[in-house]
Amino acid sequence: MLKTILITGATDGIGKHLAQKMANEGHEVIIHGRNPEKLRKALSDIQLKSGNQQVHAYLADFSIMSDVYHFAHEIKTDFQKIDVLFNNAGLYAGSQRQATAEDVELTFMLSVQVPYILTTELLPLLGKSDAGRVINTSSFMHHFAKVKNLDFGMTEDYTPGLAYNNGKLYTIWLSHYLAQKLQTKATKVTINSYHPGLISTNLGNDSSDAKVQSSFFSRMMKFFSKDLDQGIETGYYLSLSDEVASITGRYFDGKKLKRVSYKGYSEEKAARLIRYCDEKIEQYKVI
Ligand SMILES: NC(=O)c1ccc[n+]([C@@H]2O[C@H](COP(=O)([O-])OP(=O)(O)OC[C@H]3O[C@@H](n4cnc5c(N)ncnc54)[C@H](OP(=O)(O)O)[C@@H]3O)[C@@H](O)[C@H]2O)c1
Repeated sequence: MLKTILITGATDGIGKHLAQKMANEGHEVIIHGRNPEKLRKALSDIQLKSGNQQVHAYLADFSIMSDVYHFAHEIKTDFQKIDVLFNNAGLYAGSQRQATAEDVELTFMLSVQVPYILTTELLPLLGKSDAGRVINTSSFMHHFAKVKNLDFGMTEDYTPGLAYNNGKLYTIWLSHYLAQKLQTKATKVTINSYHPGLISTNLGNDSSDAKVQSSFFSRMMKFFSKDLDQGIETGYYLSLSDEVASITGRYFDGKKLKRVSYKGYSEEKAARLIRYCDEKIEQYKVI
C-alpha cells in the first residue's frame, strides 16, 4: 500500500537516498531541508529520477525553534494524514558549543528537541494512519555516552563527540519513553529508534571545523563506511515492513532488534529529559 512519508534532513546522505527510494516506489514523500538551494535540487533530482510528482519540499532551519513550529504548522495545514515521520536530520557539530536562542545545544536540538516537537505536533496526523510510525535516528555511538549528571544542555563539559554520543542516547530514551506513554492511549502509533550503520555521507564534513574533520570520528567514517544503499536498509525496513508493525519503543540495527546501552535509563530520568524539552518550549513561547 502506498504511504505518505515525511523525512527530515532529506537534502543529503541517508535522508535523500531514502526519499528517492520511497518516491521511486510511488509513495507520497515530504522532504525537508534547511538550505533552499539544496532543497530545490533534492526535489528536482527526486522528481526527475522517480517520475513521481507526489514529492513535496519544505524549508526549515532546525537550529531555530520558530522554524520547527512553522514547519509543523505547514505540514498540519497541507496534509490530513501521515503514515511515517522519519526524524533523520542530524549533525556532528564543531568544537565550540553552539546553541539556539533558548540555549538548547545544537546536537541535542537535532537529536532530541526537534524529534520531540515534531512527534507531539504531528501525532494527530499519524493517528489517522492505519499504522502510524515514528522513526528516530540514533547511532551505535550511544554506547559511548556519558550522562551521569544529566547535563542536557552540555554546559559543563562540551566536546562534539560527547554531544553526539549523548544526544543519540537521549534519542533512544525519548523514543522508549514516548512509546510507553502512547501505549496507555488508544493509538496504534509506534515509535522506534535505530542505527543506520557507518555510512559515507556529509556528516562531520559540512557544519564542522577542521579539528572535527581530522578527528577519530571523521577518519572512521572514511575508512569503514558502507554505501548509501546499505545505509537506508534499516530505515526502509522500519518504515514499511509488516514485521515491525506492532513493535514500539525499541532500537534496531541491521534490520534487527538490538541491545541498547541504556546508561542508567529510568522512567524518572526520561521524564526529566522531557521536562527539559518542555521548559525550552515554554521559554520559546515567551521570547
Ligand atoms: N552516516 C553515518 O555513518 C551515521 C551513523 C549513525 C547515525 N547517523 C545519523 O543519520 C542521520 C543522517 O545523517 P547523514 O549521515 O545522512 O548526514 P548528512 O549527509 O550530513 O545529512 C544530514 C541531513 O540533516 C540536515 N541538517 C543538518 N543540520 C540541520 C539543521 N540545523 N536544520 C535542518 N536540517 C539540518 C542536513 O542538511 P544540509 O543538507 O543542509 O546539510 C542534511 O539534510 C543523522 O541523524 C546522523 O546522526 C549517521
